[in-house]
Amino acid sequence: MISQVVLCLFVAATAGQVGVTAQRICNNSPNLCNRTYDSITYLGAHDSPFVRDVSTGYSSFGDQFFNTSTQLDAGVRMLTAQVHAVTTAQGAQEWHLCHTLCNLFDVGKLSDWLWEVRTWLDRNPTDVVTIILVNSDNAKAADLMPEFSAADIAHYAYVPPFQKPPPVPADGASAWPALNEMIDQGKRLVSFVASIDPASNTAAPYLLNEFDFVWETAYDVSNASGFKCTPDRPPSLDASMAAAKAAGMLFMMNHFLYWDQAFGIQVPDIRNVQNTNAWDGEGSLGQTLLDCSGQYQRQPTFVLVDFFNVGPAIDSVDIFNGVKDAVGRTLVTAEVVGGGAGIMEEERSITTTKTLKPCKVWL
Ligand SMILES: *[C@@H]1O[C@H](CO)[C@@H](O)[C@H](O)[C@H]1NC(C)=O
Ligand SMILES: *[C@@H]1O[C@H](CO)[C@@H](O)[C@H](O)[C@H]1NC(C)=O
Ligand SMILES: *[C@@H]1O[C@H](CO)[C@@H](O)[C@H](O)[C@H]1NC(C)=O
Repeated sequence: MISQVVLCLFVAATAGQVGVTAQRICNNSPNLCNRTYDSITYLGAHDSPFVRDVSTGYSSFGDQFFNTSTQLDAGVRMLTAQVHAVTTAQGAQEWHLCHTLCNLFDVGKLSDWLWEVRTWLDRNPTDVVTIILVNSDNAKAADLMPEFSAADIAHYAYVPPFQKPPPVPADGASAWPALNEMIDQGKRLVSFVASIDPASNTAAPYLLNEFDFVWETAYDVSNASGFKCTPDRPPSLDASMAAAKAAGMLFMMNHFLYWDQAFGIQVPDIRNVQNTNAWDGEGSLGQTLLDCSGQYQRQPTFVLVDFFNVGPAIDSVDIFNGVKDAVGRTLVTAEVVGGGAGIMEEERSITTTKTLKPCKVWL
């Protein structure tokens, strides 16, 4: 059953294509170059810089087994991260990437991570990448701009010719450029911030207020039957897909599970990730993609997962994009890495970890 529905989507996606550029490979496929930015599904690495590997002592807070560069090499084209304010011992304020709380898991400066993304973009001149920064401590555009400048990445940032997407016209024409155009103009990074005040942001117009452009399904799901297709954010859509569609907003499907710990702390649910990222079964990625695309009558633009390498996450997205033979990816294992190291013993209390330095908890 599932393969039949998938086949239909595949044919539909291919039929809409204008043609195939001779040489250029865009986001791992010649078939995507002439497609508009919004009409492609991008695999997203949720909490991209929060890695569960030897460098973090396989921390339970890690959402990915591989770092951002490896994610991008493997075909991920959308990255999310949380930005927090940190006061250094010298009293200076810095903007760091932290999971939930900086005293639990702090992977360093935003600018350093942006530098990593920038050097990847340098090495991959026909790829378009999207980032979403969760603005946990309400950084202003004037705070974030220096981080982009320090990473010398702002010149890659795309600025749409509209502050909110225009309603989709009757002929379905897109307001977004084709990947080809973005690549030709060297504007290959789309940067959303949740949230930033666009009215006060004249200095860095490339910092796009996420919820003016993107709607998301719920992000705080903790069991397989909890995935829903209706808009959760922004609340102004009142959970209405019709409203999201009429607003011309990009659809982001959150597809990861949390595992609730004591004291309201949540960590990625590594126990169930094989099912969460699978093709088939309740709460699987494949099934949810089909359900939500069917209900919205359009494929999601972003699909955000934890442990992107596990299960056929990238294959699912390829099918939705009508991509058969992806080019230029460096694939990594599809397994849970380290035997699932970092799985907490249920009884160990979070209070003991609070006194430990980041990254080394629960080993
Ligand atoms: C891609 O689109 C551009 C402009 O939209 C068009 O000029 C070009 O012929 C298309 N390329 C192919 C191979 O169809
Ligand atoms: C990412 O991980 C790879 C493989 O583990 C490593 O070789 C590379 O240096 C890392 N890159 C960064 C920027 O940390
Ligand atoms: C599963 O999650 C949903 C929504 O998050 C919640 O309403 C429901 O009670 C949960 N079910 C179980 C068995 O925990």
